[in-house]
Amino acid sequence: MKSNNTFRIALFPGDGIGAEITEPTRLLLDEVAAKVGGFGFDWAPCEAGAAYYRKHGTALPDHSIRTAREADAILLAAMGLPDVRQADGREMTPQIDLRFEFGLYAGVRPVKPIPGVRAILADPRAHDIDYVIIRESIEGLFAPYAPGTRDGDGEARETMVITRPVCEKLFDFAFKLAQERGGEKKVTSVDKANVFQAFAFWREIFYERAKGFDGVAADHAYVDAFAMTMVQKPWTIDVAVTENMFGDILSDLGAALMGGMGYAPSADIGDEHAVFQPCHGSAPDIAGKGLANPTAMILSAAMMLDWLGAKHGSREAGVAASAMRRAVDEAFGGGQLVTCELGGKAGTEAVFAAVRETLARVDA
Ligand SMILES: NC(=O)c1ccc[n+]([C@@H]2O[C@H](COP(=O)([O-])OP(=O)(O)OC[C@H]3O[C@@H](n4cnc5c(N)ncnc54)[C@H](O)[C@@H]3O)[C@@H](O)[C@H]2O)c1
Repeated sequence: MKSNNTFRIALFPGDGIGAEITEPTRLLLDEVAAKVGGFGFDWAPCEAGAAYYRKHGTALPDHSIRTAREADAILLAAMGLPDVRQADGREMTPQIDLRFEFGLYAGVRPVKPIPGVRAILADPRAHDIDYVIIRESIEGLFAPYAPGTRDGDGEARETMVITRPVCEKLFDFAFKLAQERGGEKKVTSVDKANVFQAFAFWREIFYERAKGFDGVAADHAYVDAFAMTMVQKPWTIDVAVTENMFGDILSDLGAALMGGMGYAPSADIGDEHAVFQPCHGSAPDIAGKGLANPTAMILSAAMMLDWLGAKHGSREAGVAASAMRRAVDEAFGGGQLVTCELGGKAGTEAVFAAVRETLARVDA
């Protein structure tokens, strides 16, 4: 952070709907900083993504990595276009490369429906869902140093990697979060330890680390059963920690329970760096139509403010995070603001305008 309480933010609009939700979020962040006072932002736009790859042959250029490394935080919208692929058939995934580059092992994905947004589950207890999925984000089935192989037309393989150092940091992160967040104080290991050695190892380390956190309960569930719990009795979950691929899938289920991808924020956190980005992708099916719901991006920006505030001891950044969340809650609270993804009329501009207007009014 610069001496004048200015946070330098590496800003990656990326692809598809990315640019549509980035600029207005930047504007809201500038406005909330001015409203709260005591801190500000220095924006560093960064190029990366599938469209960039199409022009330049690389999806994440060195100069963008450098800018991100020097920044206080990284705010990213979405990257990837399904028709832009490498020779082996895979897409470019610079948003995942950033996690490896900066050791962002903890993918934090809160599942907390916004009051006033149409509930997906009929059970009234679903209004009180408030839990966090921690997705391990630098190894598992995505481990970059154990790339898949393909043997001609006969066979293709992938390798799952679970290591002790990453597990220890990840589980400590999850237990600490459960300790701090004021929920039931319970961490659930979501794994498949009945079938895979890697998960038996994972679970062993999980219970070892649990011993260091008095007052936080530890339990476990197989991923298949846990998927059912997320739908049948999600109010019983507090913090769930899981492998990369499982977390990828389960967090989309969590997003659906909040109303859709446009409502689900996330953070990828490491020891030094962090990326904040909505759970969703570049949504090429709605790009350019003004239909994207920017709420997930706004809430990811609020997570960034919380993280910056905690890291730099900035009370003001924490206050700004709460103000942004309250503005979102109030904008949707009356039930009149219904986004396109839920069959309503509110597109990107309408949601931003509503949040901006409430942000100007809420106490900070
Ligand atoms: N973190 C990332 O950058 C990230 C994450 C997932 C997918 N991707 C990439 O994004 C591209 C599209 O992937 P996909 O279609 O599987 O997933 P997606 O999340 O982009 O879209 C899935 C569905 O959710 C809808 N949706 C997503 N975000 C929305 C929003 N803000 N408002 C309203 N509706 C929204 C889309 O219209 C689509 O119907 C692919 O290239 C994929 O690799 C990137």
